[in-house]
Amino acid sequence: MKFLVTAGPTREAIDPVRFLSNRSSGKMGYALAAAALEAGHEVALISGPVCIAPPPGADLTRVTTADEMAHAVQTRINTGCDVFIMCAAVADFKPREVRAAKIKKSEGLARIDLVPTRDILATVALPRDRRVLIVGFAAESESLAENARAKLRAKRCDLLCANDITRMDTGFDADHNELTLFFRDGSQRHLPRATKAELARLIVEICIAIAEKR
Ligand code: C5P
Repeated sequence: MKFLVTAGPTREAIDPVRFLSNRSSGKMGYALAAAALEAGHEVALISGPVCIAPPPGADLTRVTTADEMAHAVQTRINTGCDVFIMCAAVADFKPREVRAAKIKKSEGLARIDLVPTRDILATVALPRDRRVLIVGFAAESESLAENARAKLRAKRCDLLCANDITRMDTGFDADHNELTLFFRDGSQRHLPRATKAELARLIVEICIAIAEKR
């Protein structure tokens, strides 16, 4: 099968040296790519800026901004994929305008006007002739199940993997994670704390099982 996995944060420029971003390390997405390769699948990995090495064998595309990631994802979807895992922590907002010159400290910067980035998962155009299994991720700090179910529907996912970011020992930048998986049929499954590599193997197995049943 052909997997398309996105990973890491995006960076949204304020001026030539400053940007908005988030704490995503890319570890979960890279672990998913590694697990799919390990299971013998083809993997296209679209990654924001991270400090970790890509798994050998992945077809890597590096991007910086949410717009670049959206373009790279659409191009890959168009060339055909069976499982699309949107694990990247795309910046939700970007500055309305990017200053061409570095903003001087003496000039001050009292405010930055922000506009939402495009929601890649919710708006990517899917092929009509091929069913793509769609997997989203969500980091939640409250009402995990309710928010996860709403995102599953709004973003057309078959599976949404939610993590509770109020836990300091799991999630962003950690080597471990704990997830609750929400499925399109309304069922859910808790994956207790484990390494991101172990969780990634389970998620890949689950994706393949669903994809093969369809
Ligand atoms: O809405 P929220 O950011 O919590 O949703 C998370 C899911 O949506 C993740 O799978 C993330 O990769 C995706 N997303 C996206 N484009 C955005 C923001 C989030 O594809 N602009």
